[in-house]
Amino acid sequence: MKFILNGKSVTFDGEPDTPLLWVIREHQHLTGTKFGCGIGACGACTVHVDGEAVRSCSYPLALVQGRQVTTIEGLSEERSHPVQQAWIQEEVPQCGYCQSGMIMAVSAVMARKPLPPESQVYREITNLCRCATYYRIRKAIHRLYQTQGDAS
Ligand code: FES
Ligand code: FES
Repeated sequence: MKFILNGKSVTFDGEPDTPLLWVIREHQHLTGTKFGCGIGACGACTVHVDGEAVRSCSYPLALVQGRQVTTIEGLSEERSHPVQQAWIQEEVPQCGYCQSGMIMAVSAVMARKPLPPESQVYREITNLCRCATYYRIRKAIHRLYQTQGDAS
């Protein structure tokens, strides 16, 4: 199987039902994407496939054939993406384990045109944070809406 990972062509000769997360972490050695629950429930493993957020622990590689995959490492140069900047400004992370998944989930929603209402973002982001940084996540999303315009 071939796909594009953070702008580079990747070939993987394993089983087509291999979870995308395993290829990202164990084959490509990109460890920013985390393993949490392994059953698609927590969102720690969130990456983009053709711009859509997917939970890579439960996403078979067969589905990424010929597609564009982006991980936290490929989201921006030097953490310059607006979501990363909002996270830094609001000092969102505590232990940090869930945060690359959070940022990938939020950045997929924020890339939509038109931008969905702010309240919809809170409903759609179902990622879990064991450090309960939800209040700061909301502040960071609100900051993004103040700078990018609220479509609600
Ligand atoms: S590790 Fe994939 S959703 Fe939890
Ligand atoms: S910051 Fe620790 S799990 Fe979210």
